[in-house]
Amino acid sequence: MSGPNTNDDPGQHIAAQAGAEPATTVSQISALDPEQVQARVDEALAAIAAASTTAELKSVRITHTGDHSALALANRQIGSIPAAQRKAAGKLVGAARGRVRQALQERIGEVAAAELEATLVAETVDVTLPVADHPQGAMHPLTALIDMVSDVFTAMGWEIAEGPECESEWFNFDALNLGTDHPARALQDTLWVDPVSDGKCLRTATSPVQIHTLLAHGAPVRIISPGKVFRADEYDATHLPVFHQVEGLCVDKGISMAHLKGTLDHFAQSIFGDVTTRFRPHYFPFTEPSAEVDVECFVCHGASVGDPAHPCRTCRSEGWIEWGGCGIVNPRVLAACGVDTEVYSGFAFGMGLDRTVMVRNNASDLREFVEGDIRFSRSLLGEAR
Ligand code: DAH
Repeated sequence: MSGPNTNDDPGQHIAAQAGAEPATTVSQISALDPEQVQARVDEALAAIAAASTTAELKSVRITHTGDHSALALANRQIGSIPAAQRKAAGKLVGAARGRVRQALQERIGEVAAAELEATLVAETVDVTLPVADHPQGAMHPLTALIDMVSDVFTAMGWEIAEGPECESEWFNFDALNLGTDHPARALQDTLWVDPVSDGKCLRTATSPVQIHTLLAHGAPVRIISPGKVFRADEYDATHLPVFHQVEGLCVDKGISMAHLKGTLDHFAQSIFGDVTTRFRPHYFPFTEPSAEVDVECFVCHGASVGDPAHPCRTCRSEGWIEWGGCGIVNPRVLAACGVDTEVYSGFAFGMGLDRTVMVRNNASDLREFVEGDIRFSRSLLGEAR
């Protein structure tokens, strides 16, 4: 073989026969020419050393060791070389390919290690950074209302009081002037705790917190007490055996119905917007006089009354919404707690919180309050996602 690029070059024949892409860009070398072989080896080693990524190495591998590389083509010539020279050619080309392959393997190892190192550095997680604060749940609308009510009263200097959910009969009834023959003491309303003879019940209202507070702190006092109450009620769209109330108690010198009205107006406006309240005479054993308090409909403001063409869902076209009970604390209650009724008087009120949320946030089924579906909470809080 004298020259690399003759037409009857066996390497080219083989490539064409194999149906592979003709190695047009590869200049043919002679498998018998150490200089030509070395030149290709040098070229390959330089390309290997210059490659700095796995992708670059892949293309170097294809160019310098692939089926169409100069060395591979030279290797294929060997079979057609006269037997006397074949061994030398085989040795020359084999050694050359071996060197290239080895250099390639080494470089692949180096580059892969460098790339891994770079990835580890780039993807390092700083475990001391603050965690992304993805909201997972939603505040229950009752909790949100309790927070809101608490803010309204603490802003006026009132305190938040708590009492036990399991009460003795004396706190739940007697001290609140509910006599032994009062219908609220009947078994169908009150959930008594076994053994019934112990006189323990689940509190039927938040009113006993009035008693705990007066006994502990005396007068003057201004507290609200939001919390759970329990009654042997049905479980349906408008009743739950466990529901929530907020109790209010203000005892001081010279407290009158006017203070009660002013306080409830302010409370109602903080919760419902631009509304007034009205009192309807009523009876509660623990207040005298007593009233039921209605809040003006915050949707129609009374416009739907007597206007069948524009009914109001919120107040059922009555203009007013029943909200709770209230009154001037019965002196018998103050006396039961050792408060001097010659010096002090007070007012008290109690509202259903679940009912307040229902009216205010347009919820139609109380059962949704206890089912724990956060979509309900989110929709009522106005932050549906
Ligand atoms: N305890 C009453 C109830 O459960 C609500 C109530 C009415 C509370 C009048 C009061 C009040 O403090 O003065 O229906």
